[in-house]
Amino acid sequence: MNAVLLGYGTIGKGVEDLAKKTKGLEITNVFVLPEFVDEPYFTNDGLRIVTDPATDIVFECLSGTEPANELIRAALKAGKHVITSNKAVVSPNLKDYVDLAKESGGSIQIEAAVAGGIPFLDALLKLSLLEDLDGYEGIFNGTSNYILDNMQKENTPYEEALKQAQAKGYAEYNPASDVEGWDVFYKSNIANALAYKTYFDKIKNPLGISRLNSEDIAKAKKEGKIIRHISKSMQKDGEFDTIIAPAFLNPEDYLANIPSNYNAQLIYAPSFDKLGYFGQGAGRYATAQAMLANALDTMKNTERVIELKQDKTYNPTLIEENWIVRSAKDLSALEGFDRSEPANDRQNYSFFSKRNSALIDEVLAADPDAMIAIWR
Ligand code: HSE
Repeated sequence: MNAVLLGYGTIGKGVEDLAKKTKGLEITNVFVLPEFVDEPYFTNDGLRIVTDPATDIVFECLSGTEPANELIRAALKAGKHVITSNKAVVSPNLKDYVDLAKESGGSIQIEAAVAGGIPFLDALLKLSLLEDLDGYEGIFNGTSNYILDNMQKENTPYEEALKQAQAKGYAEYNPASDVEGWDVFYKSNIANALAYKTYFDKIKNPLGISRLNSEDIAKAKKEGKIIRHISKSMQKDGEFDTIIAPAFLNPEDYLANIPSNYNAQLIYAPSFDKLGYFGQGAGRYATAQAMLANALDTMKNTERVIELKQDKTYNPTLIEENWIVRSAKDLSALEGFDRSEPANDRQNYSFFSKRNSALIDEVLAADPDAMIAIWR
């Protein structure tokens, strides 16, 4: 089959390398942005190559939403098999892509967009065929895990740990997406769509790690907790809920023990209780192999079809967790805290139980910079 490649960065180069080793697959053209040189194997004309009758497969490894969205839509309308690693473009457009693929006889495959080298989406698609899954939880952002692990184990300052994650190629072009929860927001929207067969992209209050400071790390150590950034998602009786937040975990929690930039997930279902994954969620070859695995499915006609026909309801009070809040503002007027520790310059922590999403809204309204985390 003939494939074209959109984007020639970390992942695009990995796809090119692995495609060269794949029998029956040839990359005929690479779209690069107009600021990069247009040579015979490269082109600035993305629309031409994704609609070319000779093209079967389109590997999309651009970052950001445009021109990725325009090119994916054109490719799907032309009946191509689109394989993408780009969660930022898939999250808001997945429903349209699935519909376009269905109309045109093409396909959309997105394994690499969530948890890179881990076949997590494949597992959700496969396991949800038999029964309604109870949900999943996991670490989906390698950059955040790398930063937290280094801050806690090596006492590395936040900025230094972030620089290291960027140098190692884990972080997004704009790392705000990693540390402010947006990367995991996109990934959770996608995972929910596949797990619950319902398209919804408005999970409330995704919280990242950027508000954690060294006092919080010290607090966790003092209380015997380990901080990780997690997404937890559950469904029950036609409703679902997802929380994206830092979490102060007990050391025996599976997710507390995930080191460095690794990702990990647990999937919950009535028949098997829980099932765990661990691996590289980012990086050139980890991500590229997920895209090639999708291409091999296309070549053998064994693709998993994404169905979004159900209409489950988002209920932001379904998941019950306890929470810790640190704010420089006086939050004593807010009702709902179980207890507050004596306020001083160094720590002013308050705690509340259960999901209480209304209180999270109120805390953020009173102090948009408040540190809010799950407390287990
Ligand atoms: N920036 C992402 C991460 C890359 O750190 O996990 C993989 O999506």
